[in-house]
Amino acid sequence: MTNTTPVPAKLSPIVYFIGFTGALAGLLFGLDIGVISGAEGLIQKSFSITDQVIELVVSSLLWGAVFGTLISGILSNRLGRRGAILISAVIFILGSLVCAFSPDAHLLIAARFFLGIAIGVASFTAPLYLSEISPQRVRGSMISMYQLMITIGIVLAFLSNTWLANYANFDWLLGDHYKSVLGAGNWRVMLGIVALPAFLMFLGVLFLPESPRWLFLKGKKALAVSVFERMHLPTDEISKEVVEIEESLRVRQNGFQMFRDNSNFRRAIGLGIGLQIIQQLTGINVIMYYAPRIFKIAGFTSTEHQLWGTVIVGVTNVLATFIAIAFVDRIGRKPIMYAGFAVMGVAMIAVGTLFNMDLEKSPALGIWAIGALLIFIVGFAMSAGPIIWVICAEIFPLSGRDLGVTFSTATNWIVNAIVGGTFLTLLDKFGNGNTFLLYGGLNALFVIFFLCFVPETKGISLEKIEANLLSGKRLKEIGR
Ligand code: BGC
Repeated sequence: MTNTTPVPAKLSPIVYFIGFTGALAGLLFGLDIGVISGAEGLIQKSFSITDQVIELVVSSLLWGAVFGTLISGILSNRLGRRGAILISAVIFILGSLVCAFSPDAHLLIAARFFLGIAIGVASFTAPLYLSEISPQRVRGSMISMYQLMITIGIVLAFLSNTWLANYANFDWLLGDHYKSVLGAGNWRVMLGIVALPAFLMFLGVLFLPESPRWLFLKGKKALAVSVFERMHLPTDEISKEVVEIEESLRVRQNGFQMFRDNSNFRRAIGLGIGLQIIQQLTGINVIMYYAPRIFKIAGFTSTEHQLWGTVIVGVTNVLATFIAIAFVDRIGRKPIMYAGFAVMGVAMIAVGTLFNMDLEKSPALGIWAIGALLIFIVGFAMSAGPIIWVICAEIFPLSGRDLGVTFSTATNWIVNAIVGGTFLTLLDKFGNGNTFLLYGGLNALFVIFFLCFVPETKGISLEKIEANLLSGKRLKEIGR
């Protein structure tokens, strides 16, 4: 018997190069998220600043990201996706260096805001670029690769922090001036070292082709086709991609007008905003930004143990992301989210309850608390981490997708900044245990939001979701 199913042509290495280089933006985003947890304690010591100023050091980057997201639409439309990613790479390099050389906390806060702009632009543009340039058959995995890169970036930052804080010695570099110039504990190197991968990304992006979809948008059809040819795609696949792009471009982006006139679109925007608020209020970034402090609360007093603890958190985060990647299209978004919320809720409540006990009397409780914290990370990485981004990419009608994604991504960063900027105050006002109980309670509550408003979007075309939404169906049902 002959097999009639055509075997898809093997992808050329250049496609992998494009996917990898585009996804490097995710790596940098992760590096900058992860790097601060190991550095903040040292920065606090070195500048003798209060917890409130440290909260600003942490969150200024995130406010920069909000700003970056808001200008990304315009940047990536005017300069092209590649141009916007290049600009973000330059800001990543400059921002990391200015952070590393900041003479005081004020300049550090300003430099982190500036660096945040790069993260905002990258977090909007890189997934867009990847989704536009990748052949349809590998689109899903290219975007997942970006998500995975974020978690790998976080873990690399945790590893680099651990090495720099415990084992690295830069005395040879600056001799006697070392202590006064670099400050205690190498935090300046921690922040500055990110300029290196940023420079590599800059070089890589120079070789990237522009997004064919954007070239079409600007009327440069021949150039767009030549990009596909450079990727060595078979001719019939190129024709298919071209037809698809031409069809989708017939729908003009008129998000603002749609927002004003169409209440169904506004409902989708509300859903996207709600989902991103929920993702951040799970409390994930409290751990990402302040893990060493949490290990300290649990009774791990040495910096070395605290930082190795962050590495375990980071590795758990990477590995559990594969659970989502494996099951999101098989089991569906909502069952995974329910499981995730159950795991996250129970784990956070356990952490809170244990932190409310007398850890000095029974140090074993601290170890249990860290166990629960890791279970929380598994719950997040297998569900809300990737899946909220997936759903947000699916629910907006095509002609308002840019605006919808801008709104939801900006919300992610705003709430991210609020969470990052209030944790130490919460610990101080409510106590260690109660702060975690608060986040645990929120996770349990989010199940209700999912029950009432969130559609299951597994295995349904984006066109059908759009038609359902615009016909006025309840949000929960637009995936049927
Ligand atoms: C979130 C980030 C978070 C990361 C952790 C992402 O999905 O948007 O805020 O730091 O997951 O892996």
